[in-house]
Amino acid sequence: MRLIVQPENKKSYIHPEIYGNFSEHLGRCIYNGIYVGEDSPIENVNGMRKDIVDALKKIKLPVLRWPGGCFADEYHWMDGIGKKESRKKMINTNWGGVVEDNSFGTHEFFELCRQIGCEPYINGNVGSGTVREMSEWIEYMTSDNFSPIANLRRENGQDKPWKLKYFGIGNENWGCGGNMRPEYYADLYRQFQTYVHNYSGNHVYKIACGAGTSIANPNYEWTETIMKHARHLMSGLSLHYYTLPTDKWDHKGSSTEFDKEEYYMTLAHASFMDELCEKHGAIMDRYDPEKKIGLIVDEWGTWYDVEPGTNPGFLYQQSTMRDAMVAALTLNIFNKHSDRVHMANIAQLINVLQAVILTDGEKMLLTPTYHVFDMFSRHQGATLVESIMPMDPITSDGRTFSSVSHSASVDKEGNVHLTIANLSCDEDKKISLRLDGCAYALCDAQILTGEMNAKNDFDSPENVKIVPFDSAKIEACACGTEVEIELSKVSVLSLTFKK
Ligand code: AHR
Repeated sequence: MRLIVQPENKKSYIHPEIYGNFSEHLGRCIYNGIYVGEDSPIENVNGMRKDIVDALKKIKLPVLRWPGGCFADEYHWMDGIGKKESRKKMINTNWGGVVEDNSFGTHEFFELCRQIGCEPYINGNVGSGTVREMSEWIEYMTSDNFSPIANLRRENGQDKPWKLKYFGIGNENWGCGGNMRPEYYADLYRQFQTYVHNYSGNHVYKIACGAGTSIANPNYEWTETIMKHARHLMSGLSLHYYTLPTDKWDHKGSSTEFDKEEYYMTLAHASFMDELCEKHGAIMDRYDPEKKIGLIVDEWGTWYDVEPGTNPGFLYQQSTMRDAMVAALTLNIFNKHSDRVHMANIAQLINVLQAVILTDGEKMLLTPTYHVFDMFSRHQGATLVESIMPMDPITSDGRTFSSVSHSASVDKEGNVHLTIANLSCDEDKKISLRLDGCAYALCDAQILTGEMNAKNDFDSPENVKIVPFDSAKIEACACGTEVEIELSKVSVLSLTFKK
């Protein structure tokens, strides 16, 4: 198969935020996940697990969304500030009906982002909150004035305001965020965002709630309506899409026990993200031809039946090489649409859905999806360049996608980064790669590969891991560089070339 990369054919900036993540008050994502509390025997800094923070720094996590999800539209930020022992408790009605003691709140979230070195992305409450509540949250976080609200922050131990760039005005307001019609939400968006002020040199990138999509209902109407009525007041518009093997919410399938047919169905469904970016992007293009408004895919990833014996409201699932392939395919799609996709947040960070990290008490492991984020982190902040390969079709559940997924970028130093996934679980692929232009040297090559249902578990946490790839044959040619690659089935490859 021929793959041609044209480093001089520059396309669009790859926003680092495409490699973002999402942390909701859901199951064991925050509590018993990243946040163990200062008194925990597990090594922590101000309550945040050190091993997890270190792992997230390694993949250069650029942005983290919080506190939800559906939880965001029932969250009242004032319950999560002040002395922990006097914080108001609530029932987490969306996720298992457990008691939420609000010990992880605004201050703790900013502390987590500080330790990771990522941008915070906070999602406000439109569904059950008030304009005043949202407005005062922004003031509490970002104002340096001596107003009662900013002084309250000082009393709670944070003298200087935080910088907050990304703020979402509601979540899934067509569903758990209030069951609204798009026209109604568009009006509420216009109203709520009016009082999201820019204080003390902080500039808020306002994100409107976008479409919830599925193959059965791509929901273009939502994007059309919100763009029509509110585009002049937003910086970004979100989009949610989850990959289910079956598209039946009452029987999604196991995360680990699946056959080839289900494997291909999962990838066929994941490949739908390309069409979603294309078609929602085309609607946005009509209203915003300069592509100033970002498409913010702030929830994506696989969603299976929960692990047997676990709380169904906690959405805990294992992760296999199938998930790694979904991640590689999706991240290549986002790179290719980086002119419009300015941020994406896989759901979710730890112990929930397509997590990059799983924990069991003090044990912690990196999932195959984590390793894909590690390999792809080289694209962050680089410029997408043209990569072309004829389609090698696989058809499943009526959808056709190519067996090989790829994207390429050039960074500021002129290094070329290439990520390729062989999605086939039947055939290794021989790839003849040509890098146009000049003679390049291969300076880094890594591969992640395994059987389609290979996984890491707490007995063998390194069963799936990145290893060096040393079988590429490279030589200079008249018009650039030729590289011969044999890519095993179910594998992700990352290559970096220097001039
Ligand atoms: O990520 C889990 C849930 O999925 C989120 O809370 C919600 O926004 C979506 O429906």
